[in-house]
Amino acid sequence: MKERIEVMISAEEISARLEEIAKQVEKDFNGEQVELVCVLKGGVVTLVELAKKLTLPVTMNFMDVSSYGDATESSGRIKILRDLDEDITGKNVLLVEDIIDSGRTLSHLRALMLHRNPKRFKICTLLDKPDRRVTEVPVDYVGFTIPDAFVVGYGLDYAQKYRNLNFVGVVHFEEE
Ligand code: IMP
Ligand code: MG
Repeated sequence: MKERIEVMISAEEISARLEEIAKQVEKDFNGEQVELVCVLKGGVVTLVELAKKLTLPVTMNFMDVSSYGDATESSGRIKILRDLDEDITGKNVLLVEDIIDSGRTLSHLRALMLHRNPKRFKICTLLDKPDRRVTEVPVDYVGFTIPDAFVVGYGLDYAQKYRNLNFVGVVHFEEE
């Protein structure tokens, strides 16, 4: 099987939308310092591009999670592979994700973060696939709502590839 990538959201559209989100973030956090928390690896491109558009003081932190195998997926539990290296208590925190699909990852992470008592806690996701939602989770900033298709680019991968594409594309699988 060969993969063909069809553009769904162009680099220009993403950049313009992140500009709007950055303005809203600045308002919502009153121009105060914000800690951007990246969910590796998919969130990294959106986090960096959003960070470059923010004019308020920004710090960055990173965490890595994985969902348990299919057998336990219905429990909604995720495994923390790498936790934040600094406490977020009393801080303004903006969690940045690539995509919200079933919602399991984000709802678990949200509970974990809120338990640590940040001053403010908000979530930004580049993409939202609401048709696939299993667990509801409040998201403050959504870049684009998309239909149920497998997408890559702008941090999102297929078998670890295509994270570096500057657009979001749909993967089509074709016979060689
Ligand atoms: P969920 O919301 O817990 O189901 O998990 C979302 C995670 O699944 C995302 O952070 C991505 O890593 C991955 N994911 C979901 N949909 C896609 C897709 O269309 N392309 C690539 N990765 C995806
Ligand atoms: Mg992810």
